[in-house]
Amino acid sequence: MLTESIARARLEENGQEHVFRFWDQLTGPERAQLLAQIESIDFRLMNRLVAEWVKSEPPEERFGRIDPVPVIPKGGGEDAREAWQAGEEALKQGRVGLLLVAGGQGTRLGFDGPKGAYPIGPITRKSIFGYHAEKIRNLQRRYNCSLPWYIMVSDTNHEQTRAFFEKNHYFGIEPGNVVFFEQRMVPCVDQDGKFMLDQPGCLAMNPNGHGGVIPAVVDNGIARHARNRGVDTLSYFQVDNWAVKVADPLFIGYHVMRAAMMSSKTHRKDKPREAVGVHCLCDGVYRVIEYTVLDLYPQLLETDSAGNLIHYAGSPAIHILDVGFIESLNANYDNFPWWRAHKKIPCLNERGERIEPREPNGYKFETFIFDALRFVTHDPVVLEIPRLGEYTPIKAYEGDNSVVAARESMRALWGGWLERAGFPVRRDTADKVAVDIEISPDFALNEQEFIERAKGHIYDALSDVAIGPDGRIENR
Ligand code: UTP
Repeated sequence: MLTESIARARLEENGQEHVFRFWDQLTGPERAQLLAQIESIDFRLMNRLVAEWVKSEPPEERFGRIDPVPVIPKGGGEDAREAWQAGEEALKQGRVGLLLVAGGQGTRLGFDGPKGAYPIGPITRKSIFGYHAEKIRNLQRRYNCSLPWYIMVSDTNHEQTRAFFEKNHYFGIEPGNVVFFEQRMVPCVDQDGKFMLDQPGCLAMNPNGHGGVIPAVVDNGIARHARNRGVDTLSYFQVDNWAVKVADPLFIGYHVMRAAMMSSKTHRKDKPREAVGVHCLCDGVYRVIEYTVLDLYPQLLETDSAGNLIHYAGSPAIHILDVGFIESLNANYDNFPWWRAHKKIPCLNERGERIEPREPNGYKFETFIFDALRFVTHDPVVLEIPRLGEYTPIKAYEGDNSVVAARESMRALWGGWLERAGFPVRRDTADKVAVDIEISPDFALNEQEFIERAKGHIYDALSDVAIGPDGRIENR
Protein backbone atom coordinates (compact mmCIF):
# COMPACT_ATOMS: atom_id res chain seq x y z
CA MET A 1 0.00 0.00 0.00
CA LEU A 2 1.17 3.48 -0.91
CA THR A 3 2.25 5.66 2.04
CA GLU A 4 0.71 9.05 2.62
CA SER A 5 3.91 10.89 1.72
CA ILE A 6 4.42 9.02 -1.55
CA ALA A 7 0.76 9.53 -2.49
CA ARG A 8 1.02 13.23 -1.70
CA ALA A 9 4.18 13.55 -3.80
CA ARG A 10 2.60 11.67 -6.68
CA LEU A 11 -0.46 13.93 -6.65
CA GLU A 12 1.68 17.08 -6.46
CA GLU A 13 3.88 15.97 -9.36
CA ASN A 14 0.77 15.57 -11.47
CA GLY A 15 -1.07 18.72 -10.41
CA GLN A 16 -3.76 16.81 -8.48
CA GLU A 17 -2.87 17.76 -4.87
CA HIS A 18 -6.44 18.96 -4.20
CA VAL A 19 -7.38 15.27 -3.81
CA PHE A 20 -5.94 15.48 -0.27
CA ARG A 21 -8.08 18.49 0.59
CA PHE A 22 -10.14 16.64 3.22
CA TRP A 23 -7.38 14.26 4.39
CA ASP A 24 -7.35 15.55 7.98
CA GLN A 25 -11.05 14.73 8.41
CA LEU A 26 -10.76 11.14 7.15
CA THR A 27 -10.99 8.00 9.28
CA GLY A 28 -8.35 5.26 8.98
CA PRO A 29 -10.38 3.11 6.54
CA GLU A 30 -11.27 6.17 4.43
CA ARG A 31 -7.59 7.09 4.17
CA ALA A 32 -6.74 3.53 3.19
CA GLN A 33 -9.40 3.60 0.49
CA LEU A 34 -8.13 6.87 -0.95
CA LEU A 35 -4.53 5.63 -0.94
CA ALA A 36 -5.60 2.45 -2.75
CA GLN A 37 -7.41 4.49 -5.38
CA ILE A 38 -4.37 6.74 -5.91
CA GLU A 39 -2.12 3.70 -6.19
CA SER A 40 -4.34 2.24 -8.93
CA ILE A 41 -4.10 5.35 -11.15
CA ASP A 42 -1.91 5.35 -14.25
CA PHE A 43 -0.86 9.01 -14.03
CA ARG A 44 1.04 8.94 -17.32
CA LEU A 45 -2.13 7.81 -19.09
CA MET A 46 -4.32 10.33 -17.25
CA ASN A 47 -1.96 13.21 -18.11
CA ARG A 48 -2.08 12.16 -21.77
CA LEU A 49 -5.88 11.91 -21.77
CA VAL A 50 -6.28 15.31 -20.12
CA ALA A 51 -3.80 16.91 -22.55
CA GLU A 52 -5.44 15.36 -25.62
CA TRP A 53 -9.11 15.46 -24.67
CA VAL A 54 -9.58 18.26 -22.13
CA LYS A 55 -6.82 20.82 -22.67
CA SER A 56 -7.07 20.72 -26.46
CA GLU A 57 -9.74 20.08 -29.06
CA PRO A 58 -10.53 16.34 -29.17
CA PRO A 59 -8.68 14.51 -31.95
CA GLU A 60 -10.69 14.00 -35.16
CA GLU A 61 -9.84 11.28 -37.63
CA ARG A 62 -10.26 11.95 -41.34
CA PHE A 63 -10.28 9.37 -44.11
CA GLY A 64 -9.81 9.66 -47.88
CA ARG A 65 -12.51 7.08 -48.57
CA ILE A 66 -14.92 4.98 -46.57
CA ASP A 67 -16.21 1.77 -48.14
CA PRO A 68 -18.84 -0.68 -46.92
CA VAL A 69 -17.43 -3.78 -45.30
CA PRO A 70 -18.08 -7.15 -47.05
CA VAL A 71 -20.82 -8.97 -45.16
CA ILE A 72 -21.70 -12.68 -44.96
CA PRO A 73 -25.49 -12.81 -45.53
CA LYS A 74 -28.00 -13.80 -42.85
CA GLY A 75 -27.89 -17.54 -42.21
CA GLY A 76 -24.46 -17.71 -43.91
CA GLY A 77 -23.27 -17.89 -47.50
CA GLU A 78 -22.84 -20.90 -49.75
CA ASP A 79 -20.49 -22.42 -47.18
CA ALA A 80 -23.02 -22.09 -44.35
CA ARG A 81 -23.29 -25.83 -43.74
CA GLU A 82 -19.53 -26.21 -43.57
CA ALA A 83 -19.31 -23.23 -41.20
CA TRP A 84 -22.05 -24.64 -38.97
CA GLN A 85 -20.21 -27.96 -38.73
CA ALA A 86 -16.89 -26.25 -38.01
CA GLY A 87 -18.56 -24.27 -35.22
CA GLU A 88 -20.18 -27.36 -33.73
CA GLU A 89 -16.85 -29.17 -33.86
CA ALA A 90 -15.10 -26.31 -32.03
CA LEU A 91 -17.80 -26.43 -29.33
CA LYS A 92 -17.55 -30.21 -28.94
CA GLN A 93 -13.76 -30.01 -28.74
CA GLY A 94 -13.98 -27.53 -25.85
CA ARG A 95 -12.21 -24.78 -27.79
CA VAL A 96 -14.89 -22.18 -26.96
CA GLY A 97 -15.28 -19.96 -23.91
CA LEU A 98 -17.79 -17.20 -23.14
CA LEU A 99 -16.71 -13.66 -22.44
CA LEU A 100 -19.45 -11.52 -20.95
CA VAL A 101 -18.87 -7.87 -20.17
CA ALA A 102 -21.04 -6.75 -17.28
CA GLY A 103 -18.95 -4.05 -15.62
CA GLY A 104 -20.90 -1.01 -16.84
CA GLN A 105 -22.69 1.40 -14.51
CA GLY A 106 -26.08 1.03 -16.21
CA THR A 107 -26.89 4.67 -15.46
CA ARG A 108 -29.61 5.04 -18.08
CA LEU A 109 -31.58 2.07 -16.77
CA GLY A 110 -31.24 3.34 -13.21
CA PHE A 111 -31.92 -0.11 -11.74
CA ASP A 112 -30.78 -0.67 -8.16
CA GLY A 113 -28.41 -3.56 -8.84
CA PRO A 114 -26.26 -4.96 -11.64
CA LYS A 115 -28.00 -4.71 -15.03
CA GLY A 116 -27.80 -8.49 -15.45
CA ALA A 117 -29.97 -8.89 -12.33
CA TYR A 118 -32.81 -6.95 -13.97
CA PRO A 119 -35.99 -9.13 -13.94
CA ILE A 120 -36.61 -8.94 -17.66
CA GLY A 121 -38.97 -11.94 -17.85
CA PRO A 122 -42.46 -10.34 -17.90
CA ILE A 123 -44.08 -13.38 -16.27
CA THR A 124 -41.36 -15.29 -14.42
CA ARG A 125 -39.31 -12.15 -13.55
CA LYS A 126 -36.30 -14.15 -14.69
CA SER A 127 -33.16 -12.00 -14.76
CA ILE A 128 -31.03 -11.21 -17.81
CA PHE A 129 -28.23 -13.30 -16.24
CA GLY A 130 -30.76 -16.12 -15.83
CA TYR A 131 -31.61 -15.98 -19.53
CA HIS A 132 -27.94 -16.07 -20.56
CA ALA A 133 -27.34 -19.00 -18.18
CA GLU A 134 -30.22 -21.00 -19.68
CA LYS A 135 -28.74 -20.56 -23.16
CA ILE A 136 -25.44 -21.90 -21.85
CA ARG A 137 -27.15 -24.89 -20.20
CA ASN A 138 -28.79 -25.75 -23.49
CA LEU A 139 -25.50 -25.56 -25.45
CA GLN A 140 -23.61 -27.63 -22.87
CA ARG A 141 -26.22 -30.35 -23.10
CA ARG A 142 -26.44 -30.26 -26.87
CA TYR A 143 -22.69 -30.40 -27.49
CA ASN A 144 -21.77 -32.35 -24.39
CA CYS A 145 -19.25 -29.67 -23.54
CA SER A 146 -18.40 -27.43 -20.64
CA LEU A 147 -18.20 -23.75 -21.51
CA PRO A 148 -16.13 -21.60 -19.17
CA TRP A 149 -18.07 -18.41 -18.52
CA TYR A 150 -15.79 -15.43 -17.94
CA ILE A 151 -17.70 -12.47 -16.56
CA MET A 152 -16.15 -9.03 -16.38
CA VAL A 153 -17.43 -6.91 -13.52
CA SER A 154 -16.15 -3.66 -12.04
CA ASP A 155 -15.70 -2.08 -8.67
CA THR A 156 -19.21 -0.62 -9.07
CA ASN A 157 -20.96 -4.00 -9.14
CA HIS A 158 -18.69 -6.98 -8.46
CA GLU A 159 -19.94 -7.76 -4.96
CA GLN A 160 -23.59 -7.49 -5.93
CA THR A 161 -23.05 -9.58 -9.06
CA ARG A 162 -21.33 -12.42 -7.22
CA ALA A 163 -23.97 -12.32 -4.48
CA PHE A 164 -26.71 -12.50 -7.13
CA PHE A 165 -25.15 -15.59 -8.71
CA GLU A 166 -24.79 -17.24 -5.32
CA LYS A 167 -28.36 -16.46 -4.31
CA ASN A 168 -29.54 -18.02 -7.56
CA HIS A 169 -27.27 -21.08 -7.26
CA TYR A 170 -25.41 -19.99 -10.39
CA PHE A 171 -28.61 -20.61 -12.37
CA GLY A 172 -27.75 -24.29 -12.59
CA ILE A 173 -24.28 -23.69 -14.06
CA GLU A 174 -21.32 -25.44 -12.41
CA PRO A 175 -19.92 -22.66 -10.13
CA GLY A 176 -16.34 -23.67 -11.00
CA ASN A 177 -17.12 -22.76 -14.60
CA VAL A 178 -18.07 -19.19 -13.76
CA VAL A 179 -15.06 -16.91 -13.39
CA PHE A 180 -15.58 -13.30 -12.37
CA PHE A 181 -12.82 -10.80 -13.00
CA GLU A 182 -12.56 -7.07 -12.53
CA GLN A 183 -11.80 -4.34 -15.01
CA ARG A 184 -9.80 -1.25 -14.10
CA MET A 185 -11.31 2.05 -13.01
CA VAL A 186 -10.21 5.50 -14.18
CA PRO A 187 -10.72 8.84 -12.42
CA CYS A 188 -13.35 11.24 -13.71
CA VAL A 189 -11.97 14.71 -14.36
CA ASP A 190 -13.61 18.14 -14.29
CA GLN A 191 -13.49 20.64 -17.14
CA ASP A 192 -9.97 21.67 -16.05
CA GLY A 193 -8.69 18.11 -16.02
CA LYS A 194 -8.71 17.85 -12.21
CA PHE A 195 -9.73 14.59 -10.53
CA MET A 196 -13.17 14.81 -8.92
CA LEU A 197 -14.06 13.66 -5.40
CA ASP A 198 -17.19 11.61 -4.86
CA GLN A 199 -16.69 11.60 -1.09
CA PRO A 200 -14.05 13.29 1.06
CA GLY A 201 -12.06 10.04 0.99
CA CYS A 202 -13.12 8.68 -2.38
CA LEU A 203 -12.43 9.76 -5.95
CA ALA A 204 -15.18 9.73 -8.53
CA MET A 205 -14.07 6.92 -10.85
CA ASN A 206 -15.65 4.99 -13.70
CA PRO A 207 -14.95 1.57 -15.23
CA ASN A 208 -12.59 1.91 -18.21
CA GLY A 209 -15.17 0.87 -20.83
CA HIS A 210 -15.90 -2.48 -22.46
CA GLY A 211 -12.52 -2.18 -24.21
CA GLY A 212 -11.13 -2.59 -20.69
CA VAL A 213 -11.80 -6.28 -21.17
CA ILE A 214 -8.49 -6.54 -23.06
CA PRO A 215 -6.10 -5.72 -20.21
CA ALA A 216 -8.52 -7.26 -17.70
CA VAL A 217 -8.44 -10.65 -19.46
CA VAL A 218 -4.65 -10.72 -19.38
CA ASP A 219 -4.02 -9.08 -15.98
CA ASN A 220 -6.49 -11.34 -14.19
CA GLY A 221 -5.11 -14.56 -15.67
CA ILE A 222 -8.22 -15.23 -17.78
CA ALA A 223 -6.20 -15.73 -20.98
CA ARG A 224 -4.00 -18.22 -19.14
CA HIS A 225 -7.01 -19.96 -17.62
CA ALA A 226 -8.55 -20.30 -21.08
CA ARG A 227 -5.37 -21.63 -22.66
CA ASN A 228 -4.91 -24.17 -19.87
CA ARG A 229 -8.36 -25.51 -20.71
CA GLY A 230 -7.62 -25.66 -24.42
CA VAL A 231 -9.90 -22.68 -25.11
CA ASP A 232 -8.69 -20.39 -27.92
CA THR A 233 -12.00 -18.87 -29.08
CA LEU A 234 -14.01 -16.46 -26.92
CA SER A 235 -17.63 -15.62 -27.69
CA TYR A 236 -17.95 -11.99 -26.56
CA PHE A 237 -21.31 -10.52 -25.61
CA GLN A 238 -22.70 -7.68 -23.54
CA VAL A 239 -24.94 -8.25 -20.57
CA ASP A 240 -27.69 -5.95 -21.74
CA ASN A 241 -28.37 -7.74 -25.02
CA TRP A 242 -31.01 -10.04 -23.65
CA ALA A 243 -31.51 -11.81 -27.00
CA VAL A 244 -27.89 -12.51 -27.96
CA LYS A 245 -27.10 -15.97 -29.35
CA VAL A 246 -24.30 -17.00 -27.08
CA ALA A 247 -21.60 -19.14 -28.78
CA ASP A 248 -23.55 -19.33 -32.05
CA PRO A 249 -22.11 -22.32 -34.00
CA LEU A 250 -22.51 -20.61 -37.38
CA PHE A 251 -20.61 -17.54 -36.23
CA ILE A 252 -17.92 -19.58 -34.50
CA GLY A 253 -17.64 -21.69 -37.65
CA TYR A 254 -16.89 -18.69 -39.88
CA HIS A 255 -14.41 -17.43 -37.33
CA VAL A 256 -12.45 -20.69 -37.14
CA MET A 257 -12.70 -21.54 -40.86
CA ARG A 258 -11.20 -18.18 -41.74
CA ALA A 259 -8.62 -18.36 -38.94
CA ALA A 260 -9.82 -14.93 -37.81
CA MET A 261 -8.43 -12.87 -34.93
CA MET A 262 -11.73 -11.15 -34.28
CA SER A 263 -15.10 -11.58 -35.98
CA SER A 264 -18.28 -9.53 -35.67
CA LYS A 265 -21.98 -9.74 -36.21
CA THR A 266 -23.85 -6.94 -37.93
CA HIS A 267 -27.51 -5.96 -38.18
CA ARG A 268 -29.11 -3.63 -40.70
CA LYS A 269 -29.47 -0.18 -39.17
CA ASP A 270 -33.14 0.76 -39.02
CA LYS A 271 -32.44 4.46 -39.59
CA PRO A 272 -29.35 6.39 -40.67
CA ARG A 273 -28.88 7.85 -37.21
CA GLU A 274 -29.55 4.71 -35.19
CA ALA A 275 -27.33 4.89 -32.10
CA VAL A 276 -24.94 2.10 -33.07
CA GLY A 277 -21.47 2.02 -34.59
CA VAL A 278 -21.03 1.22 -38.30
CA HIS A 279 -18.70 -1.44 -39.69
CA CYS A 280 -16.69 -0.04 -42.60
CA LEU A 281 -13.34 0.11 -44.32
CA CYS A 282 -11.60 3.43 -43.78
CA ASP A 283 -8.83 3.87 -46.33
CA GLY A 284 -8.82 0.09 -46.49
CA VAL A 285 -8.55 -0.43 -42.72
CA TYR A 286 -11.38 -2.21 -40.97
CA ARG A 287 -13.10 -0.03 -38.37
CA VAL A 288 -16.32 0.55 -36.53
CA ILE A 289 -17.20 4.23 -36.63
CA GLU A 290 -18.99 5.19 -33.44
CA TYR A 291 -22.39 6.89 -33.84
CA THR A 292 -21.35 9.83 -31.67
CA VAL A 293 -18.96 10.96 -34.43
CA LEU A 294 -21.27 10.22 -37.36
CA ASP A 295 -21.46 13.89 -38.33
CA LEU A 296 -17.77 13.86 -39.21
CA TYR A 297 -18.52 11.35 -41.96
CA PRO A 298 -21.72 12.43 -43.79
CA GLN A 299 -21.22 9.70 -46.41
CA LEU A 300 -22.32 7.22 -43.74
CA LEU A 301 -25.80 8.73 -43.91
CA GLU A 302 -26.13 8.42 -47.71
CA THR A 303 -28.64 6.18 -49.43
CA ASP A 304 -28.58 4.55 -52.88
CA SER A 305 -31.06 5.31 -55.69
CA ALA A 306 -33.55 2.87 -54.13
CA GLY A 307 -33.38 4.75 -50.83
CA ASN A 308 -31.37 2.07 -49.00
CA LEU A 309 -28.64 3.07 -46.61
CA ILE A 310 -25.28 2.28 -48.25
CA HIS A 311 -23.47 1.86 -44.95
CA TYR A 312 -26.14 -0.26 -43.32
CA ALA A 313 -23.83 -2.51 -41.28
CA GLY A 314 -24.63 -1.61 -37.69
CA SER A 315 -22.62 -3.06 -34.84
CA PRO A 316 -24.63 -4.95 -32.21
CA ALA A 317 -21.41 -5.50 -30.19
CA ILE A 318 -21.32 -9.25 -30.68
CA HIS A 319 -17.86 -10.60 -31.46
CA ILE A 320 -15.59 -13.60 -31.33
CA LEU A 321 -12.04 -13.00 -30.18
CA ASP A 322 -9.04 -15.24 -30.44
CA VAL A 323 -7.20 -15.51 -27.10
CA GLY A 324 -3.83 -14.83 -28.77
CA PHE A 325 -5.25 -11.71 -30.41
CA ILE A 326 -6.35 -10.36 -27.02
CA GLU A 327 -2.84 -10.98 -25.69
CA SER A 328 -1.26 -9.16 -28.61
CA LEU A 329 -3.67 -6.24 -28.23
CA ASN A 330 -2.80 -6.04 -24.57
CA ALA A 331 0.91 -5.96 -25.33
CA ASN A 332 0.23 -2.82 -27.40
CA TYR A 333 -2.54 -1.40 -25.24
CA ASP A 334 -0.74 1.98 -25.09
CA ASN A 335 -1.82 2.43 -28.72
CA PHE A 336 -5.45 1.60 -28.02
CA PRO A 337 -7.77 4.57 -28.65
CA TRP A 338 -9.60 6.25 -25.77
CA TRP A 339 -12.89 8.11 -25.83
CA ARG A 340 -14.24 10.89 -23.70
CA ALA A 341 -17.84 11.33 -22.56
CA HIS A 342 -19.08 14.64 -21.18
CA LYS A 343 -21.31 13.68 -18.24
CA LYS A 344 -23.16 14.91 -15.19
CA ILE A 345 -20.94 13.59 -12.41
CA PRO A 346 -22.09 14.04 -8.80
CA CYS A 347 -19.15 15.35 -6.78
CA LEU A 348 -17.96 17.49 -3.87
CA ASN A 349 -17.18 21.18 -4.31
CA GLU A 350 -14.21 22.90 -2.65
CA ARG A 351 -16.16 23.29 0.59
CA GLY A 352 -17.02 19.61 0.66
CA GLU A 353 -20.68 20.16 -0.29
CA ARG A 354 -22.26 17.56 -2.52
CA ILE A 355 -23.20 18.75 -6.02
CA GLU A 356 -25.80 16.96 -8.17
CA PRO A 357 -25.14 18.75 -11.46
CA ARG A 358 -27.92 19.58 -13.90
CA GLU A 359 -25.49 20.01 -16.79
CA PRO A 360 -22.44 17.94 -17.72
CA ASN A 361 -19.62 19.01 -15.42
CA GLY A 362 -16.86 16.53 -16.15
CA TYR A 363 -15.48 13.77 -18.30
CA LYS A 364 -15.36 10.01 -18.17
CA PHE A 365 -12.72 8.20 -20.23
CA GLU A 366 -13.33 4.78 -21.75
CA THR A 367 -12.02 2.37 -24.37
CA PHE A 368 -14.39 0.44 -26.65
CA ILE A 369 -14.08 -3.17 -27.74
CA PHE A 370 -14.86 -2.43 -31.38
CA ASP A 371 -11.66 -0.39 -31.65
CA ALA A 372 -9.81 -3.71 -31.51
CA LEU A 373 -11.00 -4.26 -35.09
CA ARG A 374 -8.57 -1.69 -36.47
CA PHE A 375 -5.74 -4.00 -35.37
CA VAL A 376 -7.14 -6.96 -37.31
CA THR A 377 -4.84 -7.86 -40.21
CA HIS A 378 -7.04 -10.41 -42.02
CA ASP A 379 -10.10 -9.78 -44.19
CA PRO A 380 -13.11 -8.77 -42.09
CA VAL A 381 -15.39 -11.60 -40.95
CA VAL A 382 -18.78 -9.95 -40.51
CA LEU A 383 -21.97 -12.01 -40.33
CA GLU A 384 -25.38 -10.38 -40.79
CA ILE A 385 -28.07 -11.23 -38.25
CA PRO A 386 -31.75 -10.42 -37.96
CA ARG A 387 -32.58 -8.10 -35.10
CA LEU A 388 -35.43 -10.22 -33.78
CA GLY A 389 -34.05 -13.00 -31.64
CA GLU A 390 -30.46 -11.75 -31.68
CA TYR A 391 -30.20 -8.09 -30.81
CA THR A 392 -32.34 -6.37 -28.21
CA PRO A 393 -30.11 -4.29 -25.96
CA ILE A 394 -31.60 -2.87 -22.80
CA LYS A 395 -30.36 0.62 -22.09
CA ALA A 396 -33.37 2.29 -20.47
CA TYR A 397 -36.84 1.41 -19.22
CA GLU A 398 -38.84 2.88 -22.12
CA GLY A 399 -38.22 3.95 -25.72
CA ASP A 400 -35.67 2.51 -28.14
CA ASN A 401 -33.46 -0.21 -26.65
CA SER A 402 -35.49 -0.57 -23.50
CA VAL A 403 -37.14 -3.03 -21.14
CA VAL A 404 -40.47 -2.32 -22.80
CA ALA A 405 -39.02 -2.93 -26.29
CA ALA A 406 -37.28 -6.14 -25.12
CA ARG A 407 -40.56 -7.54 -23.77
CA GLU A 408 -42.30 -6.63 -26.99
CA SER A 409 -39.60 -8.48 -28.91
CA MET A 410 -40.15 -11.54 -26.69
CA ARG A 411 -43.83 -11.52 -27.63
CA ALA A 412 -43.05 -11.17 -31.35
CA LEU A 413 -40.32 -13.81 -31.36
CA TRP A 414 -41.93 -16.47 -29.25
CA GLY A 415 -45.46 -15.77 -30.46
CA GLY A 416 -44.18 -16.64 -33.95
CA TRP A 417 -42.58 -19.88 -32.70
CA LEU A 418 -45.82 -20.97 -31.00
CA GLU A 419 -47.93 -20.24 -34.06
CA ARG A 420 -45.61 -22.03 -36.44
CA ALA A 421 -45.61 -24.99 -34.04
CA GLY A 422 -49.41 -24.99 -34.43
CA PHE A 423 -50.51 -23.37 -31.16
CA PRO A 424 -52.97 -20.47 -30.88
CA VAL A 425 -51.66 -17.03 -30.00
CA ARG A 426 -53.80 -14.01 -29.21
CA ARG A 427 -53.11 -11.03 -31.46
CA ASP A 428 -54.57 -7.52 -31.33
CA THR A 429 -56.28 -5.63 -34.14
CA ALA A 430 -52.90 -4.41 -35.38
CA ASP A 431 -51.86 -8.08 -35.62
CA LYS A 432 -49.35 -7.74 -32.79
CA VAL A 433 -49.04 -10.53 -30.23
CA ALA A 434 -51.24 -9.31 -27.40
CA VAL A 435 -50.08 -11.50 -24.50
CA ASP A 436 -46.82 -11.94 -22.65
CA ILE A 437 -44.88 -15.03 -23.68
CA GLU A 438 -41.70 -16.55 -22.32
CA ILE A 439 -39.91 -19.64 -23.57
CA SER A 440 -36.92 -20.81 -21.58
CA PRO A 441 -33.78 -20.88 -23.78
CA ASP A 442 -32.87 -24.07 -21.94
CA PHE A 443 -35.95 -25.69 -23.52
CA ALA A 444 -35.36 -24.22 -26.99
CA LEU A 445 -32.70 -21.92 -28.38
CA ASN A 446 -34.36 -21.51 -31.76
CA GLU A 447 -37.60 -22.10 -33.59
CA GLN A 448 -36.56 -25.44 -35.05
CA GLU A 449 -35.65 -26.80 -31.64
CA PHE A 450 -38.89 -25.45 -30.19
CA ILE A 451 -41.05 -27.12 -32.85
CA GLU A 452 -39.19 -30.38 -32.28
CA ARG A 453 -39.41 -30.30 -28.48
CA ALA A 454 -42.94 -28.91 -28.31
CA LYS A 455 -44.35 -32.15 -29.77
CA GLY A 456 -46.39 -33.89 -27.12
CA HIS A 457 -47.03 -30.64 -25.23
CA ILE A 458 -50.16 -28.52 -25.41
CA TYR A 459 -49.71 -24.77 -25.25
CA ASP A 460 -51.98 -21.89 -25.89
CA ALA A 461 -51.09 -18.24 -25.73
CA LEU A 462 -54.60 -16.84 -25.60
CA SER A 463 -53.42 -15.46 -22.28
CA ASP A 464 -49.91 -15.00 -20.83
CA VAL A 465 -47.76 -18.10 -20.96
CA ALA A 466 -44.27 -18.96 -19.68
CA ILE A 467 -42.70 -22.23 -20.82
CA GLY A 468 -39.99 -23.46 -18.47
CA PRO A 469 -36.70 -25.33 -19.05
CA ASP A 470 -38.46 -28.72 -19.13
CA GLY A 471 -41.26 -27.55 -21.40
CA ARG A 472 -43.85 -27.29 -18.64
CA ILE A 473 -45.87 -24.13 -18.13
CA GLU A 474 -44.35 -22.16 -15.29
CA ASN A 475 -46.57 -19.09 -14.98
CA ARG A 476 -46.17 -17.51 -11.58
P1 UTP B 1 -22.98 0.64 -22.19
O1 UTP B 1 -21.94 1.45 -22.83
O2 UTP B 1 -24.30 0.63 -22.82
O3 UTP B 1 -23.07 1.09 -20.67
O4 UTP B 1 -22.42 -0.82 -22.04
P2 UTP B 1 -24.00 0.60 -19.49
O5 UTP B 1 -23.16 0.58 -18.29
O6 UTP B 1 -24.69 -0.69 -19.78
O7 UTP B 1 -25.10 1.72 -19.38
P3 UTP B 1 -25.02 3.30 -19.22
O8 UTP B 1 -24.28 3.83 -20.43
O9 UTP B 1 -24.30 3.63 -17.94
O10 UTP B 1 -26.45 3.68 -19.19
C1 UTP B 1 -22.62 -1.84 -22.96
C2 UTP B 1 -22.11 -3.11 -22.30
O11 UTP B 1 -20.75 -2.99 -21.95
C3 UTP B 1 -20.57 -3.26 -20.56
C4 UTP B 1 -21.91 -3.03 -19.93
O12 UTP B 1 -22.01 -3.75 -18.72
C5 UTP B 1 -22.84 -3.52 -21.02
O13 UTP B 1 -22.89 -4.92 -21.02
N1 UTP B 1 -19.55 -2.35 -20.02
C6 UTP B 1 -19.63 -1.01 -20.27
C7 UTP B 1 -18.56 -2.87 -19.24
O14 UTP B 1 -18.48 -4.09 -19.00
N2 UTP B 1 -17.65 -2.01 -18.72
C8 UTP B 1 -17.66 -0.69 -18.94
O15 UTP B 1 -16.78 0.04 -18.45
C9 UTP B 1 -18.69 -0.18 -19.75
